[in-house]
Amino acid sequence: MDAGVKGARVLLGVTGGIAAYKAASLTSALVQRGANVDVIMTAEAERFVAPLTFASLTARPVYTSLWDAPERIPHIRLVREAQVVLVAPATAQCIAKLALGLADDLLSTALLAARVPIAIAPAMNATMYEREATQEHLAILRDRGCTIVEPEEGYLAEGERGVGRLASEERLLETLERLLTPASLAGMRVAITAGPTREAFDPVRFVSNAASGATGIALAREAARRGAEVTLLLGPTQLEPPLGVRTVRVLTAQSMLDAALAHAIGSDVTIATAAVADWRPTEYAAQKRKKDAGVLDVHFEQTPDVLAALGDRKGETFLVGFAAETQEHERNARDKMRRKHLDAIVANDVSSERGFGLVENALVLFWGNDGRKDLGRAEKDVLAARLWDAIEGIRACS
Ligand SMILES: Cc1cc2nc3c(=O)[nH]c(=O)nc-3n(C[C@H](O)[C@H](O)[C@H](O)COP(=O)(O)O)c2cc1C
Repeated sequence: MDAGVKGARVLLGVTGGIAAYKAASLTSALVQRGANVDVIMTAEAERFVAPLTFASLTARPVYTSLWDAPERIPHIRLVREAQVVLVAPATAQCIAKLALGLADDLLSTALLAARVPIAIAPAMNATMYEREATQEHLAILRDRGCTIVEPEEGYLAEGERGVGRLASEERLLETLERLLTPASLAGMRVAITAGPTREAFDPVRFVSNAASGATGIALAREAARRGAEVTLLLGPTQLEPPLGVRTVRVLTAQSMLDAALAHAIGSDVTIATAAVADWRPTEYAAQKRKKDAGVLDVHFEQTPDVLAALGDRKGETFLVGFAAETQEHERNARDKMRRKHLDAIVANDVSSERGFGLVENALVLFWGNDGRKDLGRAEKDVLAARLWDAIEGIRACS
């Protein structure tokens, strides 16, 4: 499925607030993600940033007036060509005009003519933002189906602190990714386990593994973009969980099991990507073990099997496991799928430079008696989209 910002036509409206300078960085990020960006600036926005900045970043003309080339009716043409419109930053003035249906410049006229999704990212002084008039206008726009990307709390240009800072670039980009991705998982509950687990044998030492959680995080992000209600059960990792996903932090195999039983049972789809420790130290020393003891003598016992526990209780859940294999991928993966009562399994080749911790990976999906789909070698977010396409396809046929 082609989706997201890559290759999409994005119309960016920039209005006259201090945060207009941030729209330049956003434009660059969109272009780097492969979007085709048209920019409309209000007259007041031009007081803060020069159109040349956006023209240079997009390699396209910047539109500032209804009257530059009236024979091509720019406000209609621009919104008809766009797949999504984002106004960032959106001034109180622009929000009021949109709520009232006023159309006295190119941006407000284009917004009135738009039939595609509109996202509005307010940015202003906290008092202006909290004012009843502004809040009522935003409520009207929300009711009409606009996506409001709420401003954040923090330092404001006039030296005050409060709610009014333009939403972060990451949130703006994620909003566009969502609006540009078909909501094929809308109404579905998805649970994903991700990351390593950590088993301590004294207050400062533990055994763990090299999993980063990147694959599960990418799958959670993609499911949320497709409209699912996503719970991510995340082991210890430096990576940030995706926006718009409910994240439950876990540490040990036992806590992953507890969280999985609490959150994954009853979901429509569960994907278990976590590299849960197979063994844990039998003893935990309350004080740090001293080096002078010489040899470190640690014994291990098996941890509870999270995937098997989910398989035993899966009910109607479509349960997908991951098998990190270094050899005989298909035989080992299918064997694991049967033993643990999974609906499908993804073989993850960790024998070479692929797999754990890296941006790229190579995955093969197996299901049923002979279902097999090679998802190829690609970046983890690309593979996440391909895996969801495959899972949706299998579920549609079953
Ligand atoms: C220095 C300065 C900064 C401003 N910053 C903001 C702002 O952050 N948010 C806002 O809503 N209005 C801000 N304004 C007021 C808008 O520029 C003003 O309402 C203008 O009419 C908005 O026009 P536009 O929505 O057509 O761009 C600022 C004005 C000045 C002079």
